[in-house]
Amino acid sequence: MEQNVTILGIESSCDDTSAAVVRDGILLSNVIASQSVHEEYGGVVPELASRAHQQNIVPVVDAAIRRAGISKGDLSAIAFTRGPGLLGSLLVGTSFAKGLSLGLRIPIVDVNHLHGHVLSHFVRRAPEDEVPAYPFLCLLISGGNSQIILVRNYNDMEILGRTIDDAAGEAFDKCAKTMGLPYPGGPHIDRLAAQGNPKAFKFAKPHIPGLDYSFSGLKTSFLYTLRDARKLDPDFIGKNLPDLAASLQATIIEILIDKLAKAVEQTGVTTVAIGGGVSANSGVRAAVADFCASRGLKAFIPERAFTTDNAAMVAMAGYFKYLDRQFCTYDEVPYARVSV
Ligand code: KG4
Repeated sequence: MEQNVTILGIESSCDDTSAAVVRDGILLSNVIASQSVHEEYGGVVPELASRAHQQNIVPVVDAAIRRAGISKGDLSAIAFTRGPGLLGSLLVGTSFAKGLSLGLRIPIVDVNHLHGHVLSHFVRRAPEDEVPAYPFLCLLISGGNSQIILVRNYNDMEILGRTIDDAAGEAFDKCAKTMGLPYPGGPHIDRLAAQGNPKAFKFAKPHIPGLDYSFSGLKTSFLYTLRDARKLDPDFIGKNLPDLAASLQATIIEILIDKLAKAVEQTGVTTVAIGGGVSANSGVRAAVADFCASRGLKAFIPERAFTTDNAAMVAMAGYFKYLDRQFCTYDEVPYARVSV
């Protein structure tokens, strides 16, 4: 195996500016600047996100290189998220990667953000850290995606199921908004659910054939429950926050695990990984761990730092592509949408 391959990863697809350094598959640094500017708007404002990336990109990359204990001259290549994501945000990382690579005379490697999430399981802090064996199933659950992916190799992924409407993260965020919780609501639901009764309320569950997900029916059923209950008691939400959160979270988990179980049965794959922002959820993590333990499957639950957007996963995906000399040309542009 080639030695001293040192990859700088750059992630700027949404509202986190992140840079990381991976050497021979081992993480040396991972710096993330989150943007608090969006909180008061209840969602990410693309224009503000692009500007914040512009402010953050130089100090974040600089910090990642410094914390890795290397100098720019040690870099073998620069990997950057090319999409999917917000175009204005992606342009910042893409242009920066191109400029730096021209300056340093090293190649650039483009990374599909979703591949990055899947490959975050290969980021190791030490050589002895365990990584998944191919093939494995990855449940990718974030604010924009809910997918079950069959991963045969770093560059061979097949989507077995995807959401036909809302993503799991959207279900968390939209329901949380109705409950008057700040954006993003997922972490607040997680916190409140720990003190609530998951069986207190019943919400609609979808009946979608195959391995596809749907969360819009649950969202509607949640909204109607709240609307009807508030007619009788205006303070219904305030009095029932933990129980509402726990019941909502339990329903989302049931929907997620139900299709995951079907995917395991259909493929016979014995390793299961989760990724994306929603995989930070305590209930989801516990449910996937229990599900895998009960079926004798190997579970890969990412460190919380690798669940949300981060450049460590981009550097890792870039490392694999670098070893195969899968470089990107300077006329490649970011893309807003694409699946795995
Ligand atoms: O992967 P990610 O950072 O980026 C997007 O795809 O946007 O995922 C963000 C999503 C949001 O919907 C957020 O509410 C959700 O991940 N999330 C959580 C938790 N932490 C983040 N959902 C439930 N429980 C959490 N602890």
